[in-house]
Amino acid sequence: MIQLGVNIDHVATLRQARRGVEPDPVHAAVLAEMGGADGITLHLREDRRHVQERDLRVLRETVHVWVNLEMALDPGVLAIACEVKPDQACLVPERREELTTEGGLVVAGREDEFRRTVDRLREAGIRVTFFLDPDIRQIEAAHRSGAHMVELNTGEYSNARGPGCARECLERLQKAGSAVRAAGMGLHAGHGLDRTNIHPVLELPGLAEVNIGHAIVARAIHVGFERAVAEMADIVKRKGRSET
Ligand code: PXP
Repeated sequence: MIQLGVNIDHVATLRQARRGVEPDPVHAAVLAEMGGADGITLHLREDRRHVQERDLRVLRETVHVWVNLEMALDPGVLAIACEVKPDQACLVPERREELTTEGGLVVAGREDEFRRTVDRLREAGIRVTFFLDPDIRQIEAAHRSGAHMVELNTGEYSNARGPGCARECLERLQKAGSAVRAAGMGLHAGHGLDRTNIHPVLELPGLAEVNIGHAIVARAIHVGFERAVAEMADIVKRKGRSET
């Protein structure tokens, strides 16, 4: 069965708009758990623009589903991760000017640097995902760096205009997914997925997890967080049920 990770960064973004306490991303995480999320994903950025260290710490003590920390190769965040011990860490690139994570990691040529971070996280009992574009070279480099899982960046597919363009992006995701599986790593996907475009992605052979934030938080404004998560969980799990 494919697992659904709910990304709560946007809830923290709304709170930070007023630098107050509401809405609390930890409350949203509890509602996500009640709605059927398998895990909670949050990105502790070096600039702390949305998620705060407190969110990670309180969340770790509060929800019973897995916690996946997105993080850059930042020594400060690495130290926090090793202390708080989320179940998974997803390594992502980070640029201060970007609105959201814009592309996958460039690992090729930097394997030693990545391996040192993977080793520190692994020693803390944390499984490590690399967020990558569907690029075989980067997948091979992630494998050499000791990645346990790869989250394929579905951003280009999600933004594709026209069926031809989307088909090409899907083909790249399929080839990349096969390479991830052939290397013995777990296969995840995420970025820009919503109730309309997710279906072909759920068909990727061996897909174990999807991470979704924006579409769920946007829908939650109208229907509530628990229901927005439940609707997405139903789509993701229906795929699993149709195979059994
Ligand atoms: N996966 C990664 C690595 C991300 O950085 C993000 C965005 O924070 C997501 C998944 C979720 O993307 P979206 O918010 O577009 O669903």
